Amino acid sequence: MPNEGSYTEALRRSDETWKKLEENPSSFKMLSGDRPTGHLHLGHWFGTLKERVDLQNKGVNTNILIADYQVITDRDTTEHIQQNTHDMVLDYLAVGIDPVKTMIFTHSAVPALNQLMLPFLSLVSESELKRNPTVKAEKEVSQHALTGLLLTYPVHQACDILFCKANVVPVGKDQLPHLELTRNIARRFNDRFAPVFPEPAPLLSETPELLGLDGRKMSKSYGNAIALSMTEDETAKLIKKARTDSDRNITFDPENRPGVSALITTAALMTGQAPDAIANSIGEQGAGALKAYVTEVVNDYLRPLRQRREELAKEKGLAHEILERGNAKANEIANETLAEVRSAMRMQY
Ligand code: TRP
Repeated sequence: MPNEGSYTEALRRSDETWKKLEENPSSFKMLSGDRPTGHLHLGHWFGTLKERVDLQNKGVNTNILIADYQVITDRDTTEHIQQNTHDMVLDYLAVGIDPVKTMIFTHSAVPALNQLMLPFLSLVSESELKRNPTVKAEKEVSQHALTGLLLTYPVHQACDILFCKANVVPVGKDQLPHLELTRNIARRFNDRFAPVFPEPAPLLSETPELLGLDGRKMSKSYGNAIALSMTEDETAKLIKKARTDSDRNITFDPENRPGVSALITTAALMTGQAPDAIANSIGEQGAGALKAYVTEVVNDYLRPLRQRREELAKEKGLAHEILERGNAKANEIANETLAEVRSAMRMQY
């Protein structure tokens, strides 16, 4: 019996799902989400946005969640949450998400989604939650006591996925334990009460992770991320600040030269050229020349997207309107699912 939770098993399931999806896209429903903690960046684009746009255009039923409650799992403030959420909607549209095809919503606006948390919490154990690697890692960075929400947010994520009965979830390796938990919750609910939920499959993507300008994970909080919506000047300044090393001869060596290599990888993705070819073409011209080159290719690559975003930003109230529509639709779906859940649990009076 294969280990359900193992990576190879997830990979096998993902491959099999990709195959079926290519044959019959319209039988799939995708849910994926982002926390509204800042602008979306190039890492998001290559890591997941591009794929979501592809799935949308293939005819998969696509749904994007702006996970606003997840913001308070590891931070104490919601200060910029409205602006961040609206900015994110414009980022989605600028990369090619079509709000007619894709439902865009925030989970705080969907009460019935959140209510699934109660029955779902009854299906998981404390130790199961405590051994979740993401929960552990986030507890470390948050530097305070483990809150009830941080401990249980993977269950909330199961609510996000199952309220709309999504059967595919694009995930990075780090999110796999969450999806495993979602599958367990679905199975346990179906076994204990009545079959209501699908067991969603992971869609693992082929693209390697794009590192930030310093070679660490690309993250807004590290200041190493090129936001999609930055101006060309802001992009140039950020790249100029990137830390490199004192060796003038540019080579591609991720292990020993993380800064220089992260810049080369970024340019490689923008141009489709091999990293070594880029390194060779800069050669002895040094880090300054490399940075100028990276700035140019990044700005060229993002120009059309940024122009679209600027146009969209001129339409006042656009993000609000799109969320109003998405949230109304999400509520309809969530209410229907909750009615099924109540009926499965015999809670009809
Ligand atoms: N945890 C995800 C992140 O940090 C966001 C998210 C919330 C999500 N709910 C989800 C992703 C459901 C996939 C499915 O990026």
